[in-house]
Amino acid sequence: MIIDLIQEQRAGLHLKQTLPGEKGLPLLGHSLDFLYRPVETALRFEGKHGPVFWLSIFGMTAVVLVGPEANKLVLLDRDKAFSNSKGWDFFIGQFFKRGIMLLDFDEHKFHRGIMQAAFKKQALMQYVDRMNPVVEYDLGSWSYSKVRKNFKVVPAIKQLTLDIATEVFMGEKLGPEADDINQAFVDCVLAGTALIRYPVPGGRWSRGLKARKKLEQFFGSRVAERRRNPGPDLFSQLCLAEDENGQRFTDGDVVNHMIFLMMAAHDTSTLTMSAMFYYLAKNPEWQQKLRDESRAFGKDKVSYEDLDQLTGIEKVMKEALRLIPPVHGIPRRTVKDVEFNGHTIPAGTFTIISPFVTHHMEQHWPNAERFDPERFNAEARKEQHPYQFIPFGGGAHKCIGLHFAELQIKTIMHQILLNYRWEVPANYTMPINFTTLPNPADGLPVKLIRL
Ligand code: HEM
Repeated sequence: MIIDLIQEQRAGLHLKQTLPGEKGLPLLGHSLDFLYRPVETALRFEGKHGPVFWLSIFGMTAVVLVGPEANKLVLLDRDKAFSNSKGWDFFIGQFFKRGIMLLDFDEHKFHRGIMQAAFKKQALMQYVDRMNPVVEYDLGSWSYSKVRKNFKVVPAIKQLTLDIATEVFMGEKLGPEADDINQAFVDCVLAGTALIRYPVPGGRWSRGLKARKKLEQFFGSRVAERRRNPGPDLFSQLCLAEDENGQRFTDGDVVNHMIFLMMAAHDTSTLTMSAMFYYLAKNPEWQQKLRDESRAFGKDKVSYEDLDQLTGIEKVMKEALRLIPPVHGIPRRTVKDVEFNGHTIPAGTFTIISPFVTHHMEQHWPNAERFDPERFNAEARKEQHPYQFIPFGGGAHKCIGLHFAELQIKTIMHQILLNYRWEVPANYTMPINFTTLPNPADGLPVKLIRL
C-alpha cells in the first residue's frame, strides 16, 4: 500500500514534468469536469494537447490516452503492464470485490477459463428460451390503452432486464425482497463515483457498503442449495462450471462473480436499449424499417437460431452503442513503464481510455453526432480501425457477456417493435447524466402507441 502510494507520487511528478496537462481547480483539480462533462473535457484536452495528457482528478494525477491506437495498447496489453484491479479498484473495488473484471493476469485467466463455461452456446440457447415469456409478460403491462403519454422508457426497461436477470441468472422469482436487491445494485454502482469516498452516514459510500453486505448475504445463503439442485440458470452454471482441467469456483467465488455479473449485465443492457429507443424515436424511418424486418420474419418470438437474421436491430444496436456506450471510460493502473506516442508513462500511473471519446472523434467517425446505422454494414466495417469501436472493451477482459447482451437486446426489441410504436417531440434532445454510467437524466419520456 505504502509502496503503491510512493510509486504513485513519483509517477505524478514525472508526468507533470514530461507530459502536457492541466492542474485545474485547487484541491478538486478536474474532478467535477470528469464527473459531469467527461467527454467534452477529454475531447477539448485532446484538441489542445494531443492523444496523451494528464489531469488531476480525485486527488490523483491521471493520464488520459485517446484514440484507437491508445485503446489497442491498453486493451491488448501485450506486456502485462496495465492492471485492471488497480484501475477499477478505485471506483468499485469496495463494492464489487473479486469480481472477474477486478482480477489480473494469471489469476484472471484462471477464473475466466471457468466462467466461460456459463457462456457457451448451449447455455445461451437456454437463456434465450427462458427470456421470451418474461418479455411477453412485462410488455403486456406497458400500456393498457391505445396511447400512453409520458411513458418513461428507462425505468420500464430496467424493470424488464431485472426480471430477466432474476429468471435467467438466478432461476427464481423474487418475492418482496426484489426491490431491496435492485436498490442494493443501484447503491453499489452509485457509490463508485462518490465524491466523498468515506463512509459518512447516509452518504453514497456508506450506502454502497451496506448494499454490498446485503448482496453477499442474499447470494451466500443460496449457494449450497444451488449446488445440490442445479438448474439451467446462470447461478447454477457458475456452481457447476469447470475449466479444461476440471477446476471449479469456491462458494465465495460464486458469490463474488454473481454480484459482479448481475451488475455488469443489468445497467449496461438497460442503457443500450434506452439509447436505441431514443434514436429510433428521433429517426422514425429506422423504427419502421426494423418493424418491417421483424414482421417479415413471421414469428412473434425468436429463438437462438433466428437471432442472426435480425440484422437491422444489430446495426441500430451498434450505432446506439457507438453514440452512447454504457461503459464510457475504462480505467487501468500501470504496473510497468509504458511507452506511448514518444512519452514514458511510469509504473504506478492511473490511466484512462474512453470508448465514448473514441466513438465521437470526427477523424474516425465523420459526422460523428449523426445517427447512421449503416456505419455498421459489412463494407463500412472493413475501413475501420479494429479499436475505434470498443463498447465491449477488448483483449483479455473483453466483455464475456457480449453475446448474451446481443441476444437479450434482439429478443426484447423484436417483441417491442411488433407490439408498440413510440415518438418524441421533434425538438426533444435526451439529456445525459454522466455521474454514474451515462444515463438519460429524465428517464426518456415518450408517447407509446400500442399496435
Ligand atoms: C450492452 C451491454 C454491455 C456492455 C456495453 C458491456 C461493456 C463491457 C466492457 C466495456 C467491459 C470491459 C471492461 C474492462 O476492460 O475493464 C466489460 C466486461 C465485462 N462484462 Fe460486459 N457489457 C455489457 C453486457 C454484459 C452482460 C450482459 C454481461 C453478463 C451476462 C456482462 C459481463 C461482463 C463481465 C463478466 C466482464 C468482465 C470480463 C473480464 O474481466 O474478463 N456484460 N463489459
